[in-house]
Amino acid sequence: MRTQVGIIGAGPAGLLLSHLLAQHGISSIILESRSREEIESTIRAGVLEQGTVDLLTQTGLAERLLREGHVHHGIELRFGNQGHRIDLSGLTDGKAITVYAQHEVIKDLVKARLDAGGQILFDATDVRLDGLESTAPTVHFRQGTKFQSIACDFVAGCDGFHGISRPSIPAALKTEYERKYEFGWFGILVEAPPSSKELIYASHERGFALVSTRSDTVQRLYFQCDPKDAVANWPDERIWEELDLRLASDDGWRVKQGRIFQKGIIAMRSFVVEPLQYGRLFLAGDAAHIVPPTGAKGLNLAVADVKVLAQALDRHYSAGHNEALERYSETVLRRIWRSEHFSWWMTSMLHRFPDGDPIQRRFQLAELRNVTTSHAAATMLAENYVGLPMV
Ligand code: PHB
Repeated sequence: MRTQVGIIGAGPAGLLLSHLLAQHGISSIILESRSREEIESTIRAGVLEQGTVDLLTQTGLAERLLREGHVHHGIELRFGNQGHRIDLSGLTDGKAITVYAQHEVIKDLVKARLDAGGQILFDATDVRLDGLESTAPTVHFRQGTKFQSIACDFVAGCDGFHGISRPSIPAALKTEYERKYEFGWFGILVEAPPSSKELIYASHERGFALVSTRSDTVQRLYFQCDPKDAVANWPDERIWEELDLRLASDDGWRVKQGRIFQKGIIAMRSFVVEPLQYGRLFLAGDAAHIVPPTGAKGLNLAVADVKVLAQALDRHYSAGHNEALERYSETVLRRIWRSEHFSWWMTSMLHRFPDGDPIQRRFQLAELRNVTTSHAAATMLAENYVGLPMV
């Protein structure tokens, strides 16, 4: 097999890159280790920045998203049993976020690629990258009992944090920056109507909690937990008790309960590798960086990466210019570090630190009061939350 860009991974980064490249007339083949059913059903986050929605709209991918997604113009920060609204749109010239689950984005992208004749090879395992320092790299893989290879001009490593792409860069040529958090998130999906028109980020002495949504009948809720805890330790009654405590509000508001049909624990880390390029290999999305989910940035960062990468590859193929490709890593790292900082800042402001000394909580409350009373501080939060310019 031969293609211009071999793409490892059919997550948001790999699928969108393939779509954008096709629009520039550049061929690609996507390799995915899991099945189509699995990638289309894995529960992930669900907040799309304005720029992500705009890009998906401009490139013909947003038909269902615009119909089924929920546009939110604000979020609530809740602490001291009181809610404080951050007017996202009022503070950012009308920008908003759209709540639409990541696996729905995946379904739309897979369908668009396959309808357009794009190639996605599912259940492709034992992937190995070869000749990355040359101008003709090869991707080796196995499908069932068949060993195959793809000759390409470039390889895009979009295979997530645990993928093979990042480890294909020699250790001496990369630096990895990492912070692990001593807490995780317990996430549930609930059959219930929305409890609130907007997302609620609650900072409570017992720990963080988040009220999000998926549809008029399905709600997504999270609460801070020990990342080593087990789902089995959390029967439904204990979950509702904890959420009630952490989301308590002086105005009598209570979260709407319903049948819990999915439970899971998510670990949290901040991670960046530098640079994102090694020869003809370019990393994008979670293969290159991880943010804790508090800022809702993960998917959006992946989208911004591949927007820049697709433009740079287009410059190479249409004009023979390589400067944009050579600057890819530097270009996207500036935005990546901004999002990394924002996600760390939101995380630090809202969570209970298990070993936190008493002064830590006072700092958090001072920061929360600052962002909910200072126009400048609220604007900083809003600008980052709706998303900074993509390039
Ligand atoms: C979600 O709906 O899954 C969600 C919302 C906001 C976040 C993280 C996750 O910050």
